[in-house]
Amino acid sequence: MGSQNALDVVIAGLKRLEYRGYDSAGVAVLADGGLAAAKKAGKLANLEKELAERPLPAGTAGIGHTRWATHGGPTDANAHPHLDNAGRVAVVHNGIIENFAELRAELAERGHELLSETDTEVVSHLLAEAFSSTGDLAEAMRQVCRRLNGAFTLVAVDADAPDVVVGARRNSPLVVGVGDGETFLASDVAAFIAHTRNAVELGQDQVVELRRDGVTVTDFDGNPGEVREYHVDWDASAAEKGGYDYFMLKEIAEQPKAVADTLLGRIDGNGRLTLDEVRIDASALRETDKIVIVACGTAFHAGMIAKYAIEHWTRIPCEVELASEFRYRDPILDPRTLVIAISQSGETMDTLMALRHAREQGSKVLAICNTNGSTIPRESDAVLYTHAGPEVAVASTKAFLTQLVACYLVALYLGQVRGTKWGDEIHSQIRELSDIAKQVDQVLETMEPVRELARSLKDKNTVLFLGRHVGYPVALEGALKLKELAYMHAEGFAAGELKHGPIALIEEDLPVVVVVPSPRGRDVLHDKIVSNIQEIRARGARTIVIAEEGDEAVVPYADHLIRIPATPTLLQPLVATVPLQVFACELATARGNEVDQPRNLAKSVTVE
Ligand code: AGP
Repeated sequence: MGSQNALDVVIAGLKRLEYRGYDSAGVAVLADGGLAAAKKAGKLANLEKELAERPLPAGTAGIGHTRWATHGGPTDANAHPHLDNAGRVAVVHNGIIENFAELRAELAERGHELLSETDTEVVSHLLAEAFSSTGDLAEAMRQVCRRLNGAFTLVAVDADAPDVVVGARRNSPLVVGVGDGETFLASDVAAFIAHTRNAVELGQDQVVELRRDGVTVTDFDGNPGEVREYHVDWDASAAEKGGYDYFMLKEIAEQPKAVADTLLGRIDGNGRLTLDEVRIDASALRETDKIVIVACGTAFHAGMIAKYAIEHWTRIPCEVELASEFRYRDPILDPRTLVIAISQSGETMDTLMALRHAREQGSKVLAICNTNGSTIPRESDAVLYTHAGPEVAVASTKAFLTQLVACYLVALYLGQVRGTKWGDEIHSQIRELSDIAKQVDQVLETMEPVRELARSLKDKNTVLFLGRHVGYPVALEGALKLKELAYMHAEGFAAGELKHGPIALIEEDLPVVVVVPSPRGRDVLHDKIVSNIQEIRARGARTIVIAEEGDEAVVPYADHLIRIPATPTLLQPLVATVPLQVFACELATARGNEVDQPRNLAKSVTVE
């Protein structure tokens, strides 16, 4: 809004959001009292080709969208923006309008011709009707939003309101960028950060109106809306690849800094934790008698590791739940249950709905999140932000390690607040944690053999992953990375489960990655997994062993030995995961896959 060349600004913003994955794109601009639009299936290049052949005016205001197909396939007609039949209103939308079918029927009865298969299109027709009766686009948007069920971020323009762009959000992200004479709306600050770092976080059920003379925010009933202004603390270059071929490679390399940044300011000079930002008072934490972690995917694996740390250091029972399953199993929750919602994006709908359910049951919710101003922390009682910086690659890496750090901090903090008998160990673990970034860095220096091994396995169809104790979630995470990047069958198992079935999978030259726990302090566990390695090798497996420096017991049974620094058992995932990330990334590259935007995946799953 307010740009001299809105079209170029919008296209550039869409390019910054390409990493999220999409299958069609489109733009609309206000110019010369009219509205002009273009949209194409496929990548932005297709849209740019269209614009080269049929140029649009520069425009003083514009909207754009990259769509990930939900209702209706990735076609030109289904691409956003959607227009009303008169071509005067254009709207773009993220989310799902759950009552679109009845709205489509209603509109058809009133003579509207719907040209796409999408849920979104109903909004353009409803907006056109509402605008014709109100003459005010923001009021028209409020009227329409009151009719919609589901999750939506909407942005719209109307040719008869040439100096206005309006937006609305419910259960889906929308941020305002306030520049110098220009204002922006986007689902992610990355879209406008090249223009301004002054951002305004919108709340639930709000409508925002951008005009030349400023920004107005109300709720869906027109009452003034509360907003939070903040300064985006990373610059445009942070969202660039920094010389790496892929964002994922950059983000793997950034892990030592991400870990250090997440620890920064949270351990005082006396080795005590200072987590003032966890705005749940100490008495409530002392009364907590159960912890439930809810998350998805990689974040869920972080939660599995957190369970070991939390139960060991605090003696509080801790459950870890797939967010998508949690609220449907009628979980037992009450005010003495602390729910921890782990999410990099802060927009994962499964996790958001799980935390909402928990709060309805009276439980306190602590979010562990990497995205300032996103929905999950905003709807939680407290948040511990990870400071991984923007994670652009769909496959999560640095966010995972910082989620682990945040989980360790929460566990140690709970132990510190509750004064458990583990006080001395907690202090020593805090000291170890403060040094762990150096060990992550050390691992990164030794990854060339892992890359060579990955390339040698590019024609394999299956890789298994084994682990015990905190190595088991690491095995699951390694398998997930290989699934989502190399599109291979990859499965993680608790090594103790082998004899209960999975050992039947072992065959000649089958690659099996084994994450070996520290031989110090957990030697019974260590000896058992060495036996597991012998068992699978005796049946022909190609053993790929991840083990600590100095662990000689594994050497006779390792076809490939990947060394990691010695760390305390509970902290080992911080170093053991890195080779698995590198392994999956290199194997995917060797297969010619699109590493940053793997097929079928989106960076943030904002629908259930
Ligand atoms: C991990 O590599 C995947 N991108 C995916 O499993 C992800 O961890 C999951 O969708 C949860 O996302 P969130 O952390 O943003 O909530």
